[in-house]
Amino acid sequence: MVCLIFWLIFSIMGVNLLAGKFYSCKWDNGTIVVAEWTGIYTRDNCSAHNLTWSAPSITFDNALVGYLALLQVATFKGWVPIMTNAIDAVDVDMQPRREHNVLMYLYFVIFILFGSFFTLNLFIGVIIENFNSQKKKIRVNFVMFSQY
Ligand SMILES: *[C@@H]1O[C@H](CO)[C@@H](O)[C@H](O)[C@H]1NC(C)=O
Ligand SMILES: *[C@@H]1O[C@H](CO)[C@@H](O)[C@H](O)[C@H]1NC(C)=O
Ligand SMILES: *[C@@H]1O[C@H](CO)[C@@H](O)[C@H](O)[C@H]1NC(C)=O
Repeated sequence: MVCLIFWLIFSIMGVNLLAGKFYSCKWDNGTIVVAEWTGIYTRDNCSAHNLTWSAPSITFDNALVGYLALLQVATFKGWVPIMTNAIDAVDVDMQPRREHNVLMYLYFVIFILFGSFFTLNLFIGVIIENFNSQKKKIRVNFVMFSQY
């Protein structure tokens, strides 16, 4: 429960900072249009050039998909594109720009330190603690019964 609530805080923070900002204008081959080279800075610019405006599959648009994104970050599976998207994000309906939002690195570093290492250690610690107390109980029973 503590782990889930801790993650909920980060998920909601991610939604506040990044909701709707992962959308970008893409060429037909799927590569993201570079704003500085083409002058395509907004969603309207994108549709004026008949290009597609779309989001990647993992976003922070609501707290539920935020959990999925955090799960990917915590397990280090495909987390680099998520972090890159967050750092390039400019605003809702704005084309991302490289390293626009460098402070977002802090969000990921803090999440990995506290949300990933800390909560996983907490989780594993509780399991080991339980195991040890069960073991002690079994040993006490054994000693009691073996005396009679
Ligand atoms: C995709 O298309 C654009 C424009 O036609 C081109 O500049 C870019 O190099 C292409 N990217 C890839 C990976 O083929
Ligand atoms: C993008 O939109 C702005 C404002 O509507 C316009 O001034 C600019 O010329 C557009 N750029 C391109 C490349 O269409
Ligand atoms: C976009 O598509 C419309 C309809 O298919 C066409 O009339 C228009 O010329 C296209 N614009 C550009 C910039 O290719």
